[in-house]
Amino acid sequence: MIIAPVALAASASEGVGGGEEHAATAPTGESLVAGSVCEAHELRFQQAEDPSLHIEIPPEFAGQWPSRAACESAQLAWDAEAPGPMQPIPFSHKHHAGDFQIDCQYCHSNTSEAPAAGVPSVEVCMGCHAQFPAAYDEIEGIRILKQHWEEKKPIEWEQIHRLPEYVQFKHNRHFQAGVECQSCHGPVEKLDKLHLVPDGHWKYGVPVKKLEMGWCVECHRQNDNQASLDCLTCHY
Ligand code: HEC
Ligand code: HEC
Ligand code: HEC
Ligand code: HEC
Ligand code: HEC
Repeated sequence: MIIAPVALAASASEGVGGGEEHAATAPTGESLVAGSVCEAHELRFQQAEDPSLHIEIPPEFAGQWPSRAACESAQLAWDAEAPGPMQPIPFSHKHHAGDFQIDCQYCHSNTSEAPAAGVPSVEVCMGCHAQFPAAYDEIEGIRILKQHWEEKKPIEWEQIHRLPEYVQFKHNRHFQAGVECQSCHGPVEKLDKLHLVPDGHWKYGVPVKKLEMGWCVECHRQNDNQASLDCLTCHY
Protein backbone atom coordinates (compact mmCIF):
# COMPACT_ATOMS: atom_id res chain seq x y z
CA MET A 1 0.00 0.00 0.00
CA ILE A 2 2.98 2.27 0.39
CA ILE A 3 4.02 2.12 -3.23
CA ALA A 4 0.84 3.71 -4.53
CA PRO A 5 0.95 7.12 -2.79
CA VAL A 6 4.68 7.43 -3.50
CA ALA A 7 4.11 6.84 -7.19
CA LEU A 8 1.18 9.28 -7.18
CA ALA A 9 3.30 11.98 -5.60
CA ALA A 10 5.98 11.27 -8.17
CA SER A 11 3.62 11.61 -11.13
CA ALA A 12 2.24 14.83 -9.66
CA SER A 13 5.71 16.37 -9.71
CA GLU A 14 6.20 15.31 -13.31
CA GLY A 15 7.45 18.03 -15.63
CA VAL A 16 8.59 20.19 -12.75
CA GLY A 17 12.08 18.90 -13.42
CA GLY A 18 14.84 18.89 -10.84
CA GLY A 19 17.79 16.54 -10.88
CA GLU A 20 17.59 14.35 -7.81
CA GLU A 21 13.83 13.97 -7.63
CA HIS A 22 13.80 12.83 -11.20
CA ALA A 23 15.59 9.61 -10.37
CA ALA A 24 12.68 8.60 -8.11
CA THR A 25 10.04 9.49 -10.69
CA ALA A 26 8.53 6.47 -12.41
CA PRO A 27 8.49 6.82 -16.21
CA THR A 28 5.01 7.62 -17.49
CA GLY A 29 3.01 4.52 -18.26
CA GLU A 30 4.77 2.25 -15.80
CA SER A 31 2.31 0.05 -13.93
CA LEU A 32 1.82 -0.07 -10.19
CA VAL A 33 1.89 -3.74 -9.27
CA ALA A 34 -0.16 -5.05 -6.34
CA GLY A 35 1.76 -7.22 -3.89
CA SER A 36 -1.25 -8.44 -1.92
CA VAL A 37 -5.06 -8.57 -2.07
CA CYS A 38 -5.26 -5.51 0.20
CA GLU A 39 -2.94 -3.56 -2.11
CA ALA A 40 -5.00 -4.67 -5.10
CA HIS A 41 -8.16 -3.21 -3.47
CA GLU A 42 -6.30 0.01 -2.82
CA LEU A 43 -4.93 0.29 -6.37
CA ARG A 44 -8.36 -0.36 -7.92
CA PHE A 45 -9.78 2.34 -5.70
CA GLN A 46 -7.07 4.79 -6.74
CA GLN A 47 -7.59 3.98 -10.39
CA ALA A 48 -11.30 4.70 -10.07
CA GLU A 49 -10.31 8.17 -8.80
CA ASP A 50 -7.64 8.65 -11.46
CA PRO A 51 -8.34 6.56 -14.60
CA SER A 52 -4.95 7.50 -16.14
CA LEU A 53 -3.24 5.32 -13.51
CA HIS A 54 -1.77 2.07 -14.82
CA ILE A 55 -2.23 -0.78 -12.41
CA GLU A 56 -1.39 -4.45 -12.55
CA ILE A 57 -3.05 -7.07 -10.37
CA PRO A 58 -1.28 -10.45 -10.48
CA PRO A 59 -3.87 -13.29 -10.54
CA GLU A 60 -2.90 -14.54 -7.05
CA PHE A 61 -3.96 -11.16 -5.62
CA ALA A 62 -7.11 -10.71 -7.71
CA GLY A 63 -9.39 -12.39 -5.15
CA GLN A 64 -12.19 -10.80 -3.21
CA TRP A 65 -11.00 -11.72 0.30
CA PRO A 66 -10.02 -10.18 2.60
CA SER A 67 -12.51 -7.42 1.83
CA ARG A 68 -11.29 -3.87 1.35
CA ALA A 69 -13.15 -2.81 4.50
CA ALA A 70 -11.35 -5.49 6.54
CA CYS A 71 -7.95 -4.44 5.15
CA GLU A 72 -8.69 -0.84 5.97
CA SER A 73 -10.00 -1.27 9.50
CA ALA A 74 -7.12 -3.57 10.43
CA GLN A 75 -4.76 -0.84 9.27
CA LEU A 76 -6.61 1.90 11.18
CA ALA A 77 -6.75 -0.20 14.36
CA TRP A 78 -2.97 -0.34 14.26
CA ASP A 79 -2.45 3.35 13.53
CA ALA A 80 0.28 4.33 15.99
CA GLU A 81 -0.69 8.01 15.66
CA ALA A 82 -4.32 7.48 16.75
CA PRO A 83 -5.11 7.83 20.48
CA GLY A 84 -5.12 4.70 22.64
CA PRO A 85 -2.59 1.95 23.35
CA MET A 86 -1.26 -0.32 20.60
CA GLN A 87 -2.96 -3.70 21.02
CA PRO A 88 -1.33 -7.06 20.19
CA ILE A 89 -3.92 -7.55 17.40
CA PRO A 90 -5.41 -4.74 15.28
CA PHE A 91 -8.99 -5.42 16.35
CA SER A 92 -11.55 -2.88 15.15
CA HIS A 93 -14.70 -2.22 17.19
CA LYS A 94 -16.05 -0.13 14.31
CA HIS A 95 -15.78 -3.09 11.96
CA HIS A 96 -17.19 -5.72 14.35
CA ALA A 97 -19.71 -3.83 16.51
CA GLY A 98 -20.48 -1.05 13.98
CA ASP A 99 -20.42 -2.38 10.40
CA PHE A 100 -21.30 -5.99 11.30
CA GLN A 101 -23.46 -5.03 14.30
CA ILE A 102 -22.13 -7.79 16.55
CA ASP A 103 -23.71 -7.18 19.94
CA CYS A 104 -21.44 -5.94 22.75
CA GLN A 105 -22.78 -8.80 24.87
CA TYR A 106 -21.57 -11.37 22.35
CA CYS A 107 -17.99 -10.58 23.36
CA HIS A 108 -18.45 -8.93 26.76
CA SER A 109 -21.02 -11.36 28.11
CA ASN A 110 -20.01 -10.71 31.71
CA THR A 111 -21.39 -7.18 31.75
CA SER A 112 -24.91 -8.28 32.59
CA GLU A 113 -23.92 -10.69 35.38
CA ALA A 114 -20.63 -9.72 36.96
CA PRO A 115 -18.83 -6.59 38.20
CA ALA A 116 -16.08 -6.94 35.56
CA ALA A 117 -16.90 -6.78 31.85
CA GLY A 118 -14.03 -9.00 30.73
CA VAL A 119 -12.62 -9.41 27.24
CA PRO A 120 -13.51 -12.30 24.92
CA SER A 121 -11.40 -15.45 24.86
CA VAL A 122 -9.54 -16.69 21.78
CA GLU A 123 -12.30 -19.35 21.48
CA VAL A 124 -14.93 -16.64 21.01
CA CYS A 125 -12.87 -15.03 18.22
CA MET A 126 -12.23 -18.37 16.54
CA GLY A 127 -15.91 -19.29 16.69
CA CYS A 128 -16.20 -16.94 13.72
CA HIS A 129 -12.70 -16.76 12.32
CA ALA A 130 -12.21 -20.53 11.94
CA GLN A 131 -14.92 -20.33 9.24
CA PHE A 132 -13.19 -17.60 7.22
CA PRO A 133 -11.45 -18.31 3.89
CA ALA A 134 -7.70 -18.89 4.28
CA ALA A 135 -7.10 -15.78 2.19
CA TYR A 136 -7.82 -13.75 5.34
CA ASP A 137 -4.46 -14.86 6.69
CA GLU A 138 -3.02 -12.04 4.63
CA ILE A 139 -4.08 -9.74 7.49
CA GLU A 140 -1.35 -9.96 10.10
CA GLY A 141 -3.87 -9.69 12.96
CA ILE A 142 -5.63 -12.84 11.74
CA ARG A 143 -2.33 -14.71 11.63
CA ILE A 144 -1.52 -13.59 15.19
CA LEU A 145 -5.00 -14.68 16.32
CA LYS A 146 -4.57 -18.16 14.80
CA GLN A 147 -1.09 -18.49 16.29
CA HIS A 148 -2.55 -17.89 19.77
CA TRP A 149 -5.23 -20.45 19.01
CA GLU A 150 -2.69 -23.10 17.98
CA GLU A 151 -0.43 -22.41 20.95
CA LYS A 152 -3.44 -22.19 23.32
CA LYS A 153 -2.21 -18.84 24.59
CA PRO A 154 -4.51 -16.02 25.68
CA ILE A 155 -4.18 -12.64 23.97
CA GLU A 156 -2.60 -10.05 26.26
CA TRP A 157 -4.85 -7.06 25.56
CA GLU A 158 -3.80 -3.74 27.04
CA GLN A 159 -6.42 -2.62 29.53
CA ILE A 160 -7.63 0.92 28.90
CA HIS A 161 -10.16 1.64 31.67
CA ARG A 162 -8.80 0.91 35.12
CA LEU A 163 -9.97 2.22 38.50
CA PRO A 164 -7.75 2.34 41.60
CA GLU A 165 -7.97 -0.71 43.89
CA TYR A 166 -9.94 1.14 46.57
CA VAL A 167 -12.90 1.84 44.26
CA GLN A 168 -15.52 -0.73 43.47
CA PHE A 169 -17.37 -0.70 40.20
CA LYS A 170 -20.10 -3.09 39.11
CA HIS A 171 -20.98 -3.49 35.45
CA ASN A 172 -23.95 -5.69 36.23
CA ARG A 173 -25.63 -3.03 38.44
CA HIS A 174 -25.33 -0.41 35.69
CA PHE A 175 -26.46 -2.87 33.06
CA GLN A 176 -29.54 -3.76 35.10
CA ALA A 177 -30.29 -0.05 35.60
CA GLY A 178 -30.26 0.37 31.80
CA VAL A 179 -27.19 2.63 31.65
CA GLU A 180 -25.83 2.31 28.10
CA CYS A 181 -22.22 1.22 27.53
CA GLN A 182 -21.77 4.33 25.38
CA SER A 183 -22.67 6.76 28.17
CA CYS A 184 -19.46 5.68 29.92
CA HIS A 185 -17.25 4.44 27.08
CA GLY A 186 -18.21 6.77 24.23
CA PRO A 187 -19.17 5.74 20.67
CA VAL A 188 -17.21 2.46 20.77
CA GLU A 189 -18.93 1.15 17.63
CA LYS A 190 -17.46 4.04 15.64
CA LEU A 191 -13.85 3.53 16.73
CA ASP A 192 -11.32 1.40 14.87
CA LYS A 193 -8.79 1.88 17.64
CA LEU A 194 -10.21 2.03 21.14
CA HIS A 195 -9.17 4.69 23.63
CA LEU A 196 -10.47 6.41 26.71
CA VAL A 197 -12.99 8.87 25.26
CA PRO A 198 -13.13 12.06 27.35
CA ASP A 199 -16.54 13.13 28.54
CA GLY A 200 -18.07 16.48 27.74
CA HIS A 201 -18.36 19.33 30.23
CA TRP A 202 -20.63 19.29 33.21
CA LYS A 203 -22.57 21.96 34.97
CA TYR A 204 -19.89 24.51 35.68
CA GLY A 205 -18.10 24.17 32.34
CA VAL A 206 -15.43 22.01 33.92
CA PRO A 207 -14.14 19.35 31.53
CA VAL A 208 -14.82 15.92 32.96
CA LYS A 209 -12.14 13.28 32.95
CA LYS A 210 -13.52 9.76 32.74
CA LEU A 211 -12.98 7.58 35.78
CA GLU A 212 -12.59 10.54 38.14
CA MET A 213 -14.78 10.53 41.22
CA GLY A 214 -16.62 13.69 40.09
CA TRP A 215 -17.71 11.91 36.92
CA CYS A 216 -19.21 8.97 38.83
CA VAL A 217 -20.81 11.18 41.47
CA GLU A 218 -22.32 13.58 38.94
CA CYS A 219 -24.25 10.81 37.25
CA HIS A 220 -25.26 9.22 40.53
CA ARG A 221 -26.58 12.63 41.62
CA GLN A 222 -28.66 12.89 38.44
CA ASN A 223 -30.05 9.45 39.23
CA ASP A 224 -30.57 10.19 42.91
CA ASN A 225 -33.67 8.07 43.16
CA GLN A 226 -31.65 5.02 42.09
CA ALA A 227 -27.90 5.52 42.48
CA SER A 228 -26.36 6.11 45.84
CA LEU A 229 -23.99 8.93 46.82
CA ASP A 230 -22.96 7.14 49.99
CA CYS A 231 -19.16 6.95 50.21
CA LEU A 232 -19.40 3.23 50.93
CA THR A 233 -21.21 2.56 47.65
CA CYS A 234 -17.93 3.01 45.84
CA HIS A 235 -15.36 2.75 48.63
CA TYR A 236 -14.92 -0.30 50.81
C1 HEC B 1 -19.40 -12.94 15.44
C2 HEC B 1 -18.29 -13.17 14.55
C3 HEC B 1 -16.92 -12.60 14.88
C4 HEC B 1 -16.25 -12.70 16.07
C5 HEC B 1 -16.71 -13.29 17.37
C6 HEC B 1 -14.96 -12.07 15.84
N1 HEC B 1 -14.85 -11.62 14.55
FE1 HEC B 1 -13.22 -10.70 13.71
N2 HEC B 1 -14.28 -10.40 12.02
C7 HEC B 1 -15.58 -10.81 11.79
C8 HEC B 1 -16.03 -10.27 10.53
C9 HEC B 1 -17.40 -10.48 9.90
C10 HEC B 1 -14.94 -9.53 9.99
C11 HEC B 1 -14.92 -8.74 8.69
C12 HEC B 1 -14.80 -9.54 7.48
C13 HEC B 1 -14.80 -8.63 6.26
O1 HEC B 1 -15.05 -7.43 6.35
O2 HEC B 1 -14.58 -9.14 5.17
C14 HEC B 1 -13.86 -9.64 10.96
C15 HEC B 1 -12.61 -9.06 10.79
C16 HEC B 1 -11.56 -9.17 11.66
C17 HEC B 1 -10.23 -8.62 11.47
C18 HEC B 1 -9.77 -7.75 10.32
C19 HEC B 1 -10.48 -6.39 10.35
C20 HEC B 1 -10.54 -5.75 11.68
O3 HEC B 1 -11.64 -5.55 12.20
O4 HEC B 1 -9.51 -5.49 12.27
C21 HEC B 1 -9.49 -8.96 12.57
C22 HEC B 1 -8.04 -8.62 12.84
C23 HEC B 1 -10.36 -9.71 13.45
N3 HEC B 1 -11.60 -9.84 12.87
C24 HEC B 1 -9.98 -10.21 14.68
C25 HEC B 1 -10.87 -10.73 15.62
C26 HEC B 1 -10.52 -11.03 17.02
C27 HEC B 1 -9.15 -10.87 17.62
C28 HEC B 1 -11.64 -11.49 17.60
C29 HEC B 1 -11.86 -11.88 19.05
C30 HEC B 1 -11.54 -10.87 20.03
C31 HEC B 1 -12.70 -11.49 16.60
N4 HEC B 1 -12.18 -11.02 15.42
C32 HEC B 1 -13.99 -11.95 16.81
C33 HEC B 1 -16.34 -11.60 12.63
C34 HEC B 1 -16.03 -11.91 13.93
C1 HEC C 1 -16.15 -9.35 18.44
C2 HEC C 1 -15.88 -9.08 19.82
C3 HEC C 1 -16.22 -7.73 20.44
C4 HEC C 1 -17.39 -7.02 20.32
C5 HEC C 1 -18.63 -7.35 19.51
C6 HEC C 1 -17.24 -5.86 21.18
N1 HEC C 1 -16.01 -5.88 21.77
FE1 HEC C 1 -15.30 -4.54 23.12
N2 HEC C 1 -13.50 -5.47 23.16
C7 HEC C 1 -13.19 -6.60 22.44
C8 HEC C 1 -11.76 -6.86 22.57
C9 HEC C 1 -11.00 -7.99 21.90
C10 HEC C 1 -11.24 -5.86 23.41
C11 HEC C 1 -9.78 -5.65 23.84
C12 HEC C 1 -9.03 -4.94 22.73
C13 HEC C 1 -9.36 -3.49 22.60
O1 HEC C 1 -9.35 -2.76 23.58
O2 HEC C 1 -9.66 -3.05 21.46
C14 HEC C 1 -12.36 -5.00 23.76
C15 HEC C 1 -12.27 -3.91 24.59
C16 HEC C 1 -13.34 -3.09 24.95
C17 HEC C 1 -13.26 -1.98 25.88
C18 HEC C 1 -12.01 -1.48 26.56
C19 HEC C 1 -11.68 -2.31 27.75
C20 HEC C 1 -10.52 -1.75 28.51
O3 HEC C 1 -9.41 -2.24 28.33
O4 HEC C 1 -10.72 -0.83 29.28
C21 HEC C 1 -14.51 -1.44 25.96
C22 HEC C 1 -14.92 -0.26 26.80
C23 HEC C 1 -15.36 -2.20 25.07
N3 HEC C 1 -14.62 -3.20 24.48
C24 HEC C 1 -16.70 -1.94 24.89
C25 HEC C 1 -17.47 -2.54 23.90
C26 HEC C 1 -18.80 -2.09 23.54
C27 HEC C 1 -19.52 -0.93 24.19
C28 HEC C 1 -19.23 -2.91 22.53
C29 HEC C 1 -20.52 -2.82 21.76
C30 HEC C 1 -20.80 -1.52 21.14
C31 HEC C 1 -18.16 -3.87 22.27
N4 HEC C 1 -17.12 -3.60 23.11
C32 HEC C 1 -18.23 -4.90 21.35
C33 HEC C 1 -14.07 -7.38 21.71
C34 HEC C 1 -15.35 -7.01 21.35
C1 HEC D 1 -21.43 3.52 34.45
C2 HEC D 1 -20.30 3.48 33.58
C3 HEC D 1 -20.05 2.25 32.75
C4 HEC D 1 -20.96 1.56 31.97
C5 HEC D 1 -22.44 1.85 31.76
C6 HEC D 1 -20.21 0.51 31.32
N1 HEC D 1 -18.90 0.54 31.73
FE1 HEC D 1 -17.39 -0.68 31.14
N2 HEC D 1 -16.13 0.16 32.49
C7 HEC D 1 -16.45 1.22 33.32
C8 HEC D 1 -15.37 1.43 34.27
C9 HEC D 1 -15.34 2.49 35.34
C10 HEC D 1 -14.38 0.46 33.98
C11 HEC D 1 -13.07 0.20 34.75
C12 HEC D 1 -13.41 -0.85 35.82
C13 HEC D 1 -12.34 -1.17 36.81
O1 HEC D 1 -11.19 -0.81 36.62
O2 HEC D 1 -12.67 -1.83 37.81
C14 HEC D 1 -14.89 -0.31 32.84
C15 HEC D 1 -14.21 -1.36 32.24
C16 HEC D 1 -14.67 -2.04 31.11
C17 HEC D 1 -13.92 -3.05 30.38
C18 HEC D 1 -12.51 -3.49 30.73
C19 HEC D 1 -12.45 -4.88 31.30
C20 HEC D 1 -13.05 -5.00 32.68
O3 HEC D 1 -13.71 -6.00 32.93
O4 HEC D 1 -12.86 -4.11 33.51
C21 HEC D 1 -14.73 -3.48 29.37
C22 HEC D 1 -14.42 -4.56 28.34
C23 HEC D 1 -15.98 -2.75 29.45
N3 HEC D 1 -15.90 -1.88 30.51
C24 HEC D 1 -17.05 -2.94 28.59
C25 HEC D 1 -18.33 -2.43 28.82
C26 HEC D 1 -19.51 -2.81 28.07
C27 HEC D 1 -19.55 -3.80 26.91
C28 HEC D 1 -20.56 -2.11 28.59
C29 HEC D 1 -22.03 -2.19 28.22
C30 HEC D 1 -22.65 -3.51 28.33
C31 HEC D 1 -20.02 -1.28 29.66
N4 HEC D 1 -18.67 -1.51 29.76
C32 HEC D 1 -20.76 -0.40 30.43
C33 HEC D 1 -17.59 1.97 33.25
C34 HEC D 1 -18.77 1.60 32.60
C1 HEC E 1 -23.99 7.44 33.40
C2 HEC E 1 -24.38 7.32 34.78
C3 HEC E 1 -23.46 6.65 35.76
C4 HEC E 1 -22.11 6.77 35.89
C5 HEC E 1 -21.17 7.61 35.01
C6 HEC E 1 -21.71 5.96 37.01
N1 HEC E 1 -22.80 5.33 37.55
FE1 HEC E 1 -22.75 4.00 39.11
N2 HEC E 1 -24.77 3.75 38.96
C7 HEC E 1 -25.59 4.43 38.08
C8 HEC E 1 -26.97 3.99 38.32
C9 HEC E 1 -28.19 4.50 37.56
C10 HEC E 1 -26.90 3.06 39.37
C11 HEC E 1 -28.09 2.37 40.06
C12 HEC E 1 -28.10 0.92 39.77
C13 HEC E 1 -28.96 0.20 40.73
O1 HEC E 1 -28.44 -0.15 41.80
O2 HEC E 1 -30.15 0.05 40.46
C14 HEC E 1 -25.51 2.91 39.74
C15 HEC E 1 -25.05 2.03 40.72
C16 HEC E 1 -23.73 1.91 41.12
C17 HEC E 1 -23.24 0.96 42.09
C18 HEC E 1 -24.08 -0.08 42.82
C19 HEC E 1 -24.66 0.51 44.03
C20 HEC E 1 -25.22 -0.57 44.92
O3 HEC E 1 -26.17 -0.26 45.61
O4 HEC E 1 -24.67 -1.68 44.92
C21 HEC E 1 -21.88 1.17 42.22
C22 HEC E 1 -20.92 0.43 43.14
C23 HEC E 1 -21.54 2.23 41.30
N3 HEC E 1 -22.68 2.64 40.65
C24 HEC E 1 -20.26 2.72 41.15
C25 HEC E 1 -19.91 3.66 40.18
C26 HEC E 1 -18.55 4.15 39.99
C27 HEC E 1 -17.35 3.76 40.84
C28 HEC E 1 -18.60 5.00 38.94
C29 HEC E 1 -17.47 5.74 38.30
C30 HEC E 1 -16.28 4.99 37.93
C31 HEC E 1 -19.98 5.06 38.48
N4 HEC E 1 -20.74 4.24 39.26
C32 HEC E 1 -20.39 5.82 37.40
C33 HEC E 1 -25.22 5.34 37.12
C34 HEC E 1 -23.90 5.74 36.85
C1 HEC F 1 -20.10 6.90 42.71
C2 HEC F 1 -18.86 6.45 43.21
C3 HEC F 1 -18.16 7.22 44.33
C4 HEC F 1 -18.73 7.73 45.48
C5 HEC F 1 -20.19 7.72 45.87
C6 HEC F 1 -17.65 8.29 46.25
N1 HEC F 1 -16.46 8.11 45.58
FE1 HEC F 1 -14.60 8.68 46.25
N2 HEC F 1 -13.76 8.02 44.51
C7 HEC F 1 -14.45 7.43 43.48
C8 HEC F 1 -13.52 7.16 42.41
C9 HEC F 1 -13.86 6.52 41.06
C10 HEC F 1 -12.24 7.58 42.85
C11 HEC F 1 -10.92 7.49 42.07
C12 HEC F 1 -10.74 8.84 41.44
C13 HEC F 1 -9.48 9.10 40.76
O1 HEC F 1 -8.59 8.26 40.75
O2 HEC F 1 -9.40 10.22 40.25
C14 HEC F 1 -12.42 8.12 44.19
C15 HEC F 1 -11.41 8.64 44.96
C16 HEC F 1 -11.57 9.08 46.27
C17 HEC F 1 -10.50 9.54 47.14
C18 HEC F 1 -9.06 9.64 46.73
C19 HEC F 1 -8.89 10.95 46.01
C20 HEC F 1 -7.53 11.23 45.53
O3 HEC F 1 -7.38 12.35 45.02
O4 HEC F 1 -6.67 10.38 45.60
C21 HEC F 1 -11.06 9.88 48.33
C22 HEC F 1 -10.34 10.40 49.57
C23 HEC F 1 -12.49 9.65 48.22
N3 HEC F 1 -12.76 9.16 46.95
C24 HEC F 1 -13.40 9.89 49.24
C25 HEC F 1 -14.78 9.79 49.10
C26 HEC F 1 -15.74 10.18 50.14
C27 HEC F 1 -15.38 10.75 51.49
C28 HEC F 1 -16.97 9.92 49.63
C29 HEC F 1 -18.34 10.19 50.28
C30 HEC F 1 -18.61 11.56 50.56
C31 HEC F 1 -16.79 9.35 48.31
N4 HEC F 1 -15.45 9.29 48.03
C32 HEC F 1 -17.82 8.90 47.48
C33 HEC F 1 -15.78 7.13 43.43
C34 HEC F 1 -16.72 7.48 44.40
